[in-house]
Amino acid sequence: MKTDILLGLQWGDEGKGKIVDVLAPDYEVITRFQGGPNAGHSLEFKGKKFILHTIPSGVFRKDKLNIIGNGVVIDPVIFAEEIQSLKNEGIELNKENLLISTKAHLILPTHRLLDAASEAFKGGSKIGSTLKGIGPTYMDKTGRNGLRLGDIIRPGFMGKYKALTLKHKDLLNMYHYKGEQDDYEKKWFDGIEVIRSFDLVESEYRINRLLDDGRNILAEGAQGTLLDIDFGTYPYVTSSNTITAGALTGLGLAPSRIGHVKGIFKAYCTRVGSGPFPTELHNEKGEFLRQKGHEYGATTGRPRRCGWLDLPALRYAIMLNGVTELIMTKPDVLSGLESFMICTHYQIDGKNTNQLPYSLEDNIKPVYKSFKGWSQDISGIRMYRDLPEELKAYKNFIEKETGIPITIISVGPDREAVVMIEK
Ligand code: GDP
Ligand code: IMO
Ligand code: MG
Repeated sequence: MKTDILLGLQWGDEGKGKIVDVLAPDYEVITRFQGGPNAGHSLEFKGKKFILHTIPSGVFRKDKLNIIGNGVVIDPVIFAEEIQSLKNEGIELNKENLLISTKAHLILPTHRLLDAASEAFKGGSKIGSTLKGIGPTYMDKTGRNGLRLGDIIRPGFMGKYKALTLKHKDLLNMYHYKGEQDDYEKKWFDGIEVIRSFDLVESEYRINRLLDDGRNILAEGAQGTLLDIDFGTYPYVTSSNTITAGALTGLGLAPSRIGHVKGIFKAYCTRVGSGPFPTELHNEKGEFLRQKGHEYGATTGRPRRCGWLDLPALRYAIMLNGVTELIMTKPDVLSGLESFMICTHYQIDGKNTNQLPYSLEDNIKPVYKSFKGWSQDISGIRMYRDLPEELKAYKNFIEKETGIPITIISVGPDREAVVMIEK
């Protein structure tokens, strides 16, 4: 068997959580392969809304095995809170249904402080990080200083924890950072106990064996392609590989183990945090998208910046990920606009190009094609044939321009609000 992957093609928040929840019944195992609590994956059903940060989004479907892979970074406080809030909803995670890699790295309380200190130090050029300690944790991973989950079940953990924390305190002094964390360290050690109650495994072996045994696995990406550490809008990116390649290293999969790559994108574009965004709207249409689409961060509550769909960026993401099918979310938000736009290519120094330049901060002029809008509410539609012709025209145009079929159109936040398109 092969692993299918679902990942974001923009700057995150494309609706990954919702679609993983929709697709989960087709899979036996759902995994996360990178990122950490910077992710906020929302799903809705029966009038309730849930936001997951570390736990895979198939967790609300019965009898799934959830695996947190080695590429993920875990904050024990946030993890324990998530386990507890799921428990409150009657979802009991235990050794049978949640496995965590021994090789996943720990976000220490001081990693969070370092994230805040680094951002404060950067001042006006800050990344706008989620302040969850992601950057400093991955820095310690690649710097070969990090603590892994496997360390918490081996002797010498406290010594390693103290040594790394001391080093961080020196760094914080260097930043002249005075932030305090109240009782975070205490909660952190309580969280470590919660993690210890789960099975910490060599997940690369488990996952490959599950595939050998014919199990269906879906790997759930976090963030989005344009936030990828190598190919995103550097330095305004996250600190992991958010693309298909990240699923290989973040789970221990060989390239031949990858099946379908499901790339998800919004019918428009959003970004939260700093960094270039060529099609950003600074007018009432941007505000319309933000209000109608409830575009406020699931993790930080920050307003998301909104703009039109960017085809050069979408094609780039499709290329990097080897996307085999596309999933479009939130076209329902466009309902009521007389017209809307798509950026078909860029003009840089007077020349047309389809290619993303070295930096999206360069003098890019997006060139747009206008589409006629529709007025009706489409959130109740479940059959493709019932969608407005104007939306079908938009879908057909995107398919023609990218060469990849759109197989699902999501028309609302609820798990029922999907239009499956026959292939
Ligand atoms: P993720 O990080 O990719 O999982 O996405 P988020 O959960 O951060 O943000 C997506 C937001 O859009 C959430 O509030 C979802 O409930 C919502 N959402 C997902 N799909 C749709 C859709 O098709 N239409 C509308 N209106 N909202 C959606
Ligand atoms: P999901 O999985 C949207 C953004 C932050 C910031 C940059 C770096 O919900 O799509 P970090 O905390 O990772 O160091 O922040 O990346 N960012 C996200 N934006 N969705 C996310 O996750 C994000 N995770 C990080 O806003 O600009
Ligand atoms: Mg999100």
